[in-house]
Amino acid sequence: MRISVLGCGYLGAVHAACMAALGHRVVGVDTDDVKVKELAAGRAPFYEPGLPELLRDSVASGRLTFTTQVRQVHDPDTPDPAQHPTPTPTPDPDPMVHFICVGTPQRQGEYAADTSYVEAALTSLLPHLHPGDLVVGKSTVPVGTAARAADRIHEAAPGAALAWNPEFLREGHAVHDTQSPDRLVYGLPADPAAADRARAMLNEVYASQLAAGTPLVTCDYATSELVKSAANAFLSTKISFINAMAEVCEAAGADVTLLADAMGHDERIGSKFLRPGLGFGGGCLPKDIRAFMARAGELGADQALTFLREVDAINMRRRSRMVDLAREVLGGSFLGRRVAVLGAAFKPDSDDIRDSPALNVAAQIRLQGADVVVTDPAALENARRAWPQLQYAESVQETCESADAVLLLTEWQQYRELDPALLGRTVRSRHILDGRNALDPRRWREAGWTYRALGRPRS
Ligand code: UDX
Repeated sequence: MRISVLGCGYLGAVHAACMAALGHRVVGVDTDDVKVKELAAGRAPFYEPGLPELLRDSVASGRLTFTTQVRQVHDPDTPDPAQHPTPTPTPDPDPMVHFICVGTPQRQGEYAADTSYVEAALTSLLPHLHPGDLVVGKSTVPVGTAARAADRIHEAAPGAALAWNPEFLREGHAVHDTQSPDRLVYGLPADPAAADRARAMLNEVYASQLAAGTPLVTCDYATSELVKSAANAFLSTKISFINAMAEVCEAAGADVTLLADAMGHDERIGSKFLRPGLGFGGGCLPKDIRAFMARAGELGADQALTFLREVDAINMRRRSRMVDLAREVLGGSFLGRRVAVLGAAFKPDSDDIRDSPALNVAAQIRLQGADVVVTDPAALENARRAWPQLQYAESVQETCESADAVLLLTEWQQYRELDPALLGRTVRSRHILDGRNALDPRRWREAGWTYRALGRPRS
């Protein structure tokens, strides 16, 4: 297939590279000139395991190109319409699939999602659509967005069609999740002939995943949009549920990690996404549950999702509780204290710091008067840009030098494996706060550390 991918962020760049690796001919489009230059040189502009190799190989093979110009999706030699008016597109013997992978961030000061990038991507694409082309939305959008987009395509580019195909990839596992998804969802047009054509084109795009037995759910636009919102709402609820249990455990002197372990053995519950700790962050879960609530309100179904307010509140409370715990360990005040923070990314194996619980905690502690030094194996550059008021260090040793407390806030593998005896020689006081329940308390206590974690007994 010939494919274009509009928006080359965490989702689009991985999607473009994976589609090219499957043998499709792919052009990635992004308005960010610097990002396009990096990608075109076969370099990943962000940290994602497996992506650099995939990009390098696909770009070298010639199957993957990048541009800032949407007009070049069909033909890289298409001239600038400012100098040469674009002729009316003619039917293409080889129709294309155009994936929309742009972001839908939270609107400033509101819960609702900002869909302006989706609208803008579609607006830029419309004049270049050929009859027979298929536009495929992958961005997470409020339900109803796809129907509106389909109307716009119908008006401006009759003969082209729309499908919605939500993405469920996790950062840090994005290549695997795109190559071997646990399900494919196609939201298809109501018209049966148009639906058949869209399904056939998507089946060709995903031929290898389907051949490998990936389950496929086909449905209407609205259901496909809601699948994504509902899945993220469910995952967030599961995390906040176990974190609410952490609060009860703390009050009762119980251990939430043992509780989660015991609960997870019930197959109906399962142990995934039941890891208690500092809670969820990132560019998806927090803003997606808020956008979902906002959209349900617009639809008159707000009561159905009021519980998500509580899910959000429990999650945000984790961060302030972590700050309280650190202050308590330091004897009631941060003033004049030096605090080492291990982790800046919102989760391990990512350099994404969007709504990072780790940086949120680090910044709160800094504001309360401590000297805060942060380290992270991948996200330091992003963190420095976003939070210049914090101090940063490359190595764990440097970060923990003379620290009065060490906070593990993102559970990178190298932090899980730290040697408590060795680190004990670097710090001023042996206080470790395990924000992700990633360490073995016995090992740390035996090495003379005060070990504290959310939802676990003091000793
Ligand atoms: C999420 C969804 O998993 C994915 O399907 C969707 O497409 C995008 O949003 P992602 O944001 O990459 O993916 O991260 P995920 O692995 O889901 O983790 C989200 C946050 O929850 C992280 O901050 C993580 O640390 C936290 N988390 C996860 C917990 O606190 N406890 C858990 O048990 C699991």
